[in-house]
Amino acid sequence: MSRIAYVNGQYVPFREARVHIEDRGYQLGDGVYEVCEIRNGALVDERRHLLRLERSLSELRMTMPVTQSALRFVMAETVRRNRVKDGLIYLQVTRGVARRDHGFPEEVIKAALVVTVRALDRKKIEKAAEVGIAVITVPDDRWGRVDIKTIGLLPNVLARQKAKDAGAKDAWFVDSEGLVTEGAASNAWIVTKDDVLVTRPSSNRILTGITRTVAKEIAIKLQMTVEERAFSVAEALAANEAFLTSATQTVMPVISIDGHKIASGKPGPVTKRLREEFHRTAEIGPKIV
Ligand code: PDD
Repeated sequence: MSRIAYVNGQYVPFREARVHIEDRGYQLGDGVYEVCEIRNGALVDERRHLLRLERSLSELRMTMPVTQSALRFVMAETVRRNRVKDGLIYLQVTRGVARRDHGFPEEVIKAALVVTVRALDRKKIEKAAEVGIAVITVPDDRWGRVDIKTIGLLPNVLARQKAKDAGAKDAWFVDSEGLVTEGAASNAWIVTKDDVLVTRPSSNRILTGITRTVAKEIAIKLQMTVEERAFSVAEALAANEAFLTSATQTVMPVISIDGHKIASGKPGPVTKRLREEFHRTAEIGPKIV
């Protein structure tokens, strides 16, 4: 079956999906995006992802390109047309097409909206979660507004590649004080020796992950203690457990950092519990396919 993309008002065959070369996303990275999980034919936490999209756009002094209800319709329709039951949906909004100039265009231009869907191999992810993943650390050399989900991901791209080159699955950014900020495309967590879950507080230094918010809700529901504070690499290495959260991996155990094992080097019980509980706590939308 052929893949379909939604591009600026039209559903087009994936292979033919195009944006203009003077789109400000392409020229200047002037845009934002969102990624939402599709599970059992339904969208996971769509409402919260759309709220974050709205916030990212407002930080760029932009508004939603279409109404929330129209966007929800387009998302469902794109999932339906691709018949993806387990996968991801990507939304990308850029300021639109204009003659190249750093400042905003003086004329009113239409924001560009692209929606794509892709299937995920859930079995493969489950297998990875059974053994856990390795991460490396890299200096956090990103700009000061990583709370905005912008399409400008070069430091994240380079970090992820460095991880790949080192045989690891992800990279954790570390600030100039030796404290972990977040993963290249995820939020970072540890479980201390006293069974306290620790993750960096929301600020302009991290993207406030939707999965992170849900994980916090689960922890509170299960009467676990959550501390929102920064932790060092040394503290992570001495922890009982480490894990990361993201829409693409939900709750993923981290079993080593820079080649050093965390505890026994196996996924821990707290991480496993959060992973099992995840879809019981996240907001699951109506079945689309
Ligand atoms: N990334 N931090 C960064 C830098 C991210 O890129 C992401 C998500 C997260 C976790 O956010 P959430 O739980 O809402 O997915 C944190 C997406 C999945 C991506 O770029 O593919």
